[in-house]
Amino acid sequence: MNCAMRCFLALILPASALLATDPTEPSLREAAGGRFDIGFGSELPTPARAALVAHHGNSLTTENSLKFHMLRPTEHEWKWDKADALIDFAVKGKLEIVGHTLVWCYQMPKWVTAKIASGELDKAAALRLQDEHIRTVLARHGDRIGTWDVVNEALADDGDYLRDDPWSTLCGEDYIIEAFRSARAAAPQARLLYNDFNLEAPAKRARLFRLLGRLEAEGLRPDGIGLQGHYSLTSPSVAGIEAAIEEIHAAGYPVHFTELDISVYKRAAGADLERREYRPDSDPGYAVLPDDLHEALAGRYADLFRLFVRQADKIERVTFWNVDDGTSWLNNWPLKGRPDHPLLFDRQQKPKPAFHAVLRELTGNAETSNESP
Ligand code: XIL
Repeated sequence: MNCAMRCFLALILPASALLATDPTEPSLREAAGGRFDIGFGSELPTPARAALVAHHGNSLTTENSLKFHMLRPTEHEWKWDKADALIDFAVKGKLEIVGHTLVWCYQMPKWVTAKIASGELDKAAALRLQDEHIRTVLARHGDRIGTWDVVNEALADDGDYLRDDPWSTLCGEDYIIEAFRSARAAAPQARLLYNDFNLEAPAKRARLFRLLGRLEAEGLRPDGIGLQGHYSLTSPSVAGIEAAIEEIHAAGYPVHFTELDISVYKRAAGADLERREYRPDSDPGYAVLPDDLHEALAGRYADLFRLFVRQADKIERVTFWNVDDGTSWLNNWPLKGRPDHPLLFDRQQKPKPAFHAVLRELTGNAETSNESP
């Protein structure tokens, strides 16, 4: 629809009629009924996406705008405009905000990685920089953001303990411990999370428990663990996810599903940003999702939400990573430009069969009404 047409319709129709989200459509947040929060990871949304978030969610995670490289692209320059605008939007909409993320080995600004590579930044200077970063971000937004992903993706998928990256090579596990120390000092009341992917794999979970043991010994116990939830149609298994929920909860940590999406393409689970893949020109992906994949996606979401409902006492929040298929980061990862369809809403923000499958699980109508809408 062009701009003139939108303006004309805006004069003759109520605002809600211009938005894809139907206000009479059942709300996921209401269907979840307080058992866990429903969230979306997003940049500042378009009006249509904002309506969807407001209707279905009560929580918003800052997708990119609070990341180090966004806030401090050069050493002497802090850029707050994007984060401020997004946080204003969330506050006005009475959404609980999750600040993502204070420390992450990826998406570090180039000036920091250059300083590490040149040897200009030694461990003590790196930890000072990290502390300054965390305190600066929390001084600005600590009063409006109640939950923080303090450290993201520090653990190795293979190998011994920590992910092999320049930051951990320089600082070892101390950077994680010091990050929690800085965050706790700067925002004593905040809910501080450790966030990672592949924690459904027992070997990676063992590394998590090793890290949590170190944090506990320092009196820096996180307030919860974030399981990202970047899943495929088949992996990881529901049993594997359930074991992760149960073990993490048994260790005394509430579970947050922080970045849920289900790619319709075959790939290993997880979200290692470095693992980009080559796409032959002969494989354009699905511009439109075929019916059988709609069905498979709905079935997989149903399985997951059946699990979430069953384990709701251990789960604080389920956040979808992005609002609809049009904004999904999976359209550019692991293959740039391949359209993916991993969410409950399509590119026009219309609910997909997967949405109705989730709704049925949340409302307990799964057995009685299995037909596709
Ligand atoms: C992604 C964003 O969605 C993209 O827009 C960005 O280009 C790359 O990062 N795990 C995380 C998130 O913790 O921060 C990542 O977000 C997705 C994987």
